[in-house]
Amino acid sequence: MNILILGSGGREHAIAWKLAQSRKVSRIFIAPGNAGTHAIGTNLRIDPEDKEAVKTAVIAHEIGMVVVGPEAPLVAGIHDYFLHDELLVDVPVIGPVKSAARLEGSKDFAKAFLVRHHIPTAAYKTFDRTNASEAGDFLLTLNPPYVIKADGLAAGKGVIICSNFDEAVEEVNAVISGKFGDAGEKVVIEQFLKGIELSVFIVTDGRSWKLLPEAKDYKRIGEGDTGLNTGGMGAVSPVPFAGKDFMEKVKNRIIIPTVRGLRDEGIDYKGFIFFGLMNVGGEPYVIEYNARLGDPEAEVVIPRIKSDLYELFEGVAKGDLDRRPLEIEDNYVTTVMLASGGYPGPYEKGIEITGIEVRDDCMIFHSGTKILDGRVLTSGGRVLAVSCRGGSMKEALEASYRKAGSISFRNMYYRKDIGFDI
Ligand code: AMP
Ligand code: GLY
Repeated sequence: MNILILGSGGREHAIAWKLAQSRKVSRIFIAPGNAGTHAIGTNLRIDPEDKEAVKTAVIAHEIGMVVVGPEAPLVAGIHDYFLHDELLVDVPVIGPVKSAARLEGSKDFAKAFLVRHHIPTAAYKTFDRTNASEAGDFLLTLNPPYVIKADGLAAGKGVIICSNFDEAVEEVNAVISGKFGDAGEKVVIEQFLKGIELSVFIVTDGRSWKLLPEAKDYKRIGEGDTGLNTGGMGAVSPVPFAGKDFMEKVKNRIIIPTVRGLRDEGIDYKGFIFFGLMNVGGEPYVIEYNARLGDPEAEVVIPRIKSDLYELFEGVAKGDLDRRPLEIEDNYVTTVMLASGGYPGPYEKGIEITGIEVRDDCMIFHSGTKILDGRVLTSGGRVLAVSCRGGSMKEALEASYRKAGSISFRNMYYRKDIGFDI
């Protein structure tokens, strides 16, 4: 079986790395991939959102399965495109159809879904141009800080937390007036939940589901969770505060009603569901849904999966996931993201990276790299995810930091406090 993975980050590198270990997988293609995936399979110069180009590649390379890494192609309907094309209809796509990807693509849709299925989430109300003048009245029913979200995809920047009322009203108007383009045609105002966040993942064939290892990611650029939001500066798995009781609540109050809700609404969901959760004094609330694995969470979640990932994907495609084994390693995996100095603001690209040869138990997943004349160069803000295992969180973190210290490129930056707060 030849597989095509869409995407170019550490998540896609981790998926490729794991699939390469399956006896059932012959060749792996990654579009567009990076220097890390180049070492595992064949990178294709294709934009994952260019459906025609994806189709051409699937036919040319006799692809038998497509795994979608990021949300954008899903929200743009890549899975639906396959279902409606007679040459592609038999090629399974791992990732939901457009109507289901709205769980991530529209915050208003996600909130309404949560409420419809009685799944715990922050109180909210959605506004658009027609009722923006009433936003103030709703804000008055909440206590500060105020959470304001652009409805659509806004490259992870669409959430604004305001400490006072006037600022909140101003932000609501700014979003509706086009601060985030079309993504802000609607705006969701939400009650602020105080707690600690974690990411929970399942893979589902639309009927049954399997729980993958949970993870905690570190979103801010600065130590002590300060500074600007990023795509994620590190992650750990398992999460010590996600104990048995808590995960039981997550299963019963969140996962089961979500999968059942999708089915009841006639949505055949095939792929990953990422539950962004807040643990509020031991009670789980859904902050957001994503229609994919997280990044950098995938770089700690996937290494803890002992079973054959291809087998699971085949179960998703065939609808017999319940018969596929899923074994999880009970060790710890941590990842530290090495970033370009300046990120998430402007940064330099094209800098040579040294020290990435792996001779130990660590995995270096490439996030933003490219290969030029055999040299590995930086090509993004987040550059490398250094994932290492350990018998304890401390051991794994020590290994990640030891490894990070042996890698270098000009202006390399990383947080030194990943995993130390929990
Ligand atoms: P999102 O893009 O929905 O993941 O939101 C980005 C970040 O904003 C989340 O990771 C949280 O840290 C924060 N956030 C979102 N919604 C809430 C909420 N209702 N209460 C507190 N923090 C929130
Ligand atoms: N690390 C969070 C995400 O992938 O959305």
